[in-house]
Amino acid sequence: MSANQGVGLFISFEGIDGAGKSTHIAGLAEALSSKGCKVTLTREPGGTGLAEKLRGLILNDAMDALTESLLVFAARRDHVETVIRPALAKGEVVLCDRFTDATFAYQGAGRGFDLQTLSTLETWVQSQAEQVLQPELTYWFDLSPSLAAERLASARVPDKFESQPVAFFEAVRSGYAARAQADPQRFARIEANQSREAVFAEVIAVAKERGYL
Ligand code: TMP
Repeated sequence: MSANQGVGLFISFEGIDGAGKSTHIAGLAEALSSKGCKVTLTREPGGTGLAEKLRGLILNDAMDALTESLLVFAARRDHVETVIRPALAKGEVVLCDRFTDATFAYQGAGRGFDLQTLSTLETWVQSQAEQVLQPELTYWFDLSPSLAAERLASARVPDKFESQPVAFFEAVRSGYAARAQADPQRFARIEANQSREAVFAEVIAVAKERGYL
């Protein structure tokens, strides 16, 4: 485990809307818990009272990309300081449904916001003792945007992001691909166009390879 995370383990889960990550996060949490790990299950934007309020604005209110990025990072700051770091310091496993890669993918690649500014915000918000907090492992559930759109069509009422056209999700997907390429050790790409059982088997296999299970 890397030095900037104390004794805990930080894992994030990413992918375009409709990629189907949620059930697998719960499944991995259960597998880790049954091995005796204390698991904190959380999400972004959100994970604290304040950040959940910001989530409501981010997902439902129209705003420019800078405002959106600032709100996402404000929510993240509160979440990192009050939930993620304290849990890692206690040696817990933190499973986080989305983290900063989503900002690079959605606000950066999707909305076309300046990546350098996002990097600056990332450093401000996630730094402590000159180290930038990052997940040790990021599962990237990768699925073609047209398939994801089919899945979403039968799901709940779409929020601001979920109602974006397929072209937006093509850009978001390329944003994830760029982040994965820049940090291949951290990322595990999961082929999400498989049965739920096959996807979960991949999730578990990655955790075993890394020695977490
Ligand atoms: P969720 O539906 O998977 O919980 O994700 C919430 C939405 O927020 C999803 O459409 C992606 C978006 N999002 C961003 O645009 N930027 C971010 O930094 C994060 C964490 C999420």
